[in-house]
Amino acid sequence: MTIQWFPGHMAKARREVTEKLKLVDIIFELVDARLPLSSRNPMIDQIIQQKPRLMILNKADMADPSRTSEWINYFNERGIRAVAVNSQAGEGMKQIVTAAKEILQEKFDRMKAKGIKPRAIRTMIIGIPNVGKSTLINRLAKKNIAKTGNTPGVTKAQQWIKVGKELELLDTPGILWPKFEDEQIGYKLALTGAIKDSILNLQDIAVFALRFLNTYYPERLKERYGLETIGEPIVEAFDEIGRKRGCLMSGGEIDYDKTSEIIIRDVRMERLGRLTFDILEEYNEEES
Ligand code: G4P
Repeated sequence: MTIQWFPGHMAKARREVTEKLKLVDIIFELVDARLPLSSRNPMIDQIIQQKPRLMILNKADMADPSRTSEWINYFNERGIRAVAVNSQAGEGMKQIVTAAKEILQEKFDRMKAKGIKPRAIRTMIIGIPNVGKSTLINRLAKKNIAKTGNTPGVTKAQQWIKVGKELELLDTPGILWPKFEDEQIGYKLALTGAIKDSILNLQDIAVFALRFLNTYYPERLKERYGLETIGEPIVEAFDEIGRKRGCLMSGGEIDYDKTSEIIIRDVRMERLGRLTFDILEEYNEEES
């Protein structure tokens, strides 16, 4: 799904999420584990305000595991509980339920003390397109989607999906827009497929990928494309990859678009291994 985000759409998306917020105890903020910051909605904190939240780093199977641990610590240190999962394979689903229960323990204890009958935790998933919201909903729902009826007082019917006995999940996720303001973020979103019909230039994305890989994963780059050394200007590596892959135009010139497509596809299909594009050190440098 590719959504064109215009101001009107953004306002509507925000309104819809704000409306649904009232129905839930906790938000599951879903991000791509390869980009735990770049795949967040820029206004998420303002939108969800004080609502309890569990951060879910999805597609952890595609991300660099050591960097995923760093990001989990990063969020935990900032008071945001975070877990890493693979919704496609259904890995980490129990962790989600356990974490949600722990986050809400006090609230539910207080309710119990007041004599309010215990009930399931209500939650919804929020995230930008393509982070895996539908996949996670289906995973949590398993096959036996149990509908618990509409919530009174809500005009638009909301269906709840039962996740075991302890959790109820809204069947439609909150979809919010990605960050647009930063070119680097745009490249990262394009590389991970979050922006599908990219408005960004193909060659620029590929050059960004090569530079990034050369900085953080140079061995993988050399190995994949059989390169001896890589340095600046990066276009030389680009030329070499194009030549090696037979991306040539009729006059023997390198076909840069075709070469770019190969590089981007290789990244997306994990042919360069598990990669994380948001690098914690870079953000620490910015913060200090
Ligand atoms: P959305 O609702 O947030 O827009 O995302 P959606 O669930 O549609 O997932 C987007 C893509 O990400 C899908 O692939 C989906 O299979 C994949 N995906 C979701 N969770 C995971 C995960 O934990 N690991 C991995 N490796 N992939 C995941 P697609 O190619 O767009 O579609 P399809 O191949 O499933 O048809």
